[in-house]
Amino acid sequence: MNAPFERVVLLEASGAKHLVNLDRETVKIPSVGVVRADTLQGLLGRRWTIGDRTFLVMVPSIRDEIESVRREAQIIGTKDAPALLWNCDVKPGDFVVEIGAGSGALTLALAHAVGSKGRVVTYDVRPEFLDRARDNVTAADLEGVVEFKIGDGRKGVVERGADAMILDIPDPWEAVDGAATVLRPCGHFASYSPNMEQVNRTVATLRKSTFVEIRSVEIIEREIVAHEAGTHPSFAPLGHTGYLTFARKVLDTF
Ligand SMILES: C[S@@+](CC[C@H](N)C(=O)[O-])C[C@H]1O[C@@H](n2cnc3c(N)ncnc32)[C@H](O)[C@@H]1O
Repeated sequence: MNAPFERVVLLEASGAKHLVNLDRETVKIPSVGVVRADTLQGLLGRRWTIGDRTFLVMVPSIRDEIESVRREAQIIGTKDAPALLWNCDVKPGDFVVEIGAGSGALTLALAHAVGSKGRVVTYDVRPEFLDRARDNVTAADLEGVVEFKIGDGRKGVVERGADAMILDIPDPWEAVDGAATVLRPCGHFASYSPNMEQVNRTVATLRKSTFVEIRSVEIIEREIVAHEAGTHPSFAPLGHTGYLTFARKVLDTF
């Protein structure tokens, strides 16, 4: 028999989702009431009707986990998180240092990607943000992978030999020299910045240091709406989130 799920998503026909913890005997479901947790365990993939409400009971994806984090700070875009993981080659067993835990949304994606054999160390200057990040990571049952540290990523951190270092802070260029020390040879640097000025300063600093393959991108995701009468891009505006800057640390340059 499969291990019981600790969380499920209740999906409504409208697309609305409710993440529900099943780690106690009874659970409270917003605007529905209190039900026994094991009622939902037996219903994965099935329709569940209570009163006049109908849900499909789903296993949460990492996207569901990220979208439902309780927010203390602006979180990483769900279109940007996979691009960070892919471009930094983050994989099971990796060691990743993150600067700017915020609400822990990116921390969740990193912890999920490195898995139980990997490790994520995340820093924030503000204890209340770190607490929120810890709560969100714990709720997703990934806390065993993550170490939460108070500290200023611009002043250098003690970790060494990291496979990747990812920054979501206002002035990432201030942490570039520190990143060169933290990363293993050929390790991946990434920063996430809402403004072009931040990208310019970060790229200029990377160029002066021992980094190669420096590039910046913006990920644009446009949903396609499929109707019988016609399929077209969604009319929703393409909102801006941030620019991603990537680089790789080397020991020698050209
Ligand atoms: C936009 S939030 C990060 C959001 C996070 N990526 C997420 O997905 O939830 C930026 C965070 O960086 C932290 N921060 C700012 N400067 C920092 C620094 N120099 N070192 C460490 N953390 C810093 C802030 O306190 C804030 O929590």
